[in-house]
Amino acid sequence: MKRLSGVADQARLSDAKSIQKLVNHFADQDRMLHRKLKDIRKDIGDFIVYRMDGEVVGCAALHRLSDNLAEIRAVAVREKDQKHGIGRKLVEACLEKAQTSGIPDVLLLTYEPGYFGRFGFEKTKIKIENFHHKLYGECLNRPKGPPGKCGEIAMVYHLS
Ligand SMILES: CC(C)(COP(=O)(O)OP(=O)(O)OC[C@H]1O[C@@H](n2cnc3c(N)ncnc32)[C@H](O)[C@@H]1OP(=O)(O)O)[C@@H](O)C(=O)NCCC(=O)NCCS
Repeated sequence: MKRLSGVADQARLSDAKSIQKLVNHFADQDRMLHRKLKDIRKDIGDFIVYRMDGEVVGCAALHRLSDNLAEIRAVAVREKDQKHGIGRKLVEACLEKAQTSGIPDVLLLTYEPGYFGRFGFEKTKIKIENFHHKLYGECLNRPKGPPGKCGEIAMVYHLS
């Protein structure tokens, strides 16, 4: 594996456009949800970015849904920088953020269950609509259809 020269860092408002470009690149391939710039700016505190040579090459977000549950969203790494551990650093930073905030459970919805299984995320049979209304609301906008029909797998990580 190539030695990583970058750093995982709290996102700043000035990163919002780079985050949008990264996320929407994969969203155009139906691999994740499109994000509006104003929403990224509103939730900028959720985002961690991976910077290399001053450039944002990866991002992930941890969004608090309730006192007990947060969702990891928008995990993306620029194609040419993939498979060098950047995704791992970003996901681990999100889990650390949840731990520091005292949030015990972290959920995500993904088309890549094999990838997230490597971190200890487990598939859950609980229906998405029973998790949290904010999550369910976002699910309704998924490109491939509403919860249960979009093909995304719900996975949970228990921190405590
Ligand atoms: C998924 C994604 C974020 C992974 O980023 P990455 O920087 O390439 O991931 P890492 O290098 O940290 O991978 C860690 C390990 O998982 C493996 N891996 C990568 N993708 C995998 C997959 N789809 N299934 C199983 N394992 C996978 C890597 O080979 C690596 O293995 P190693 O630790 O033994 O070397 C990246 O491929 C991506 O941006 N995909 C498009 C957007 C997307 O699908 N996001 C996830 C949905 S929210």
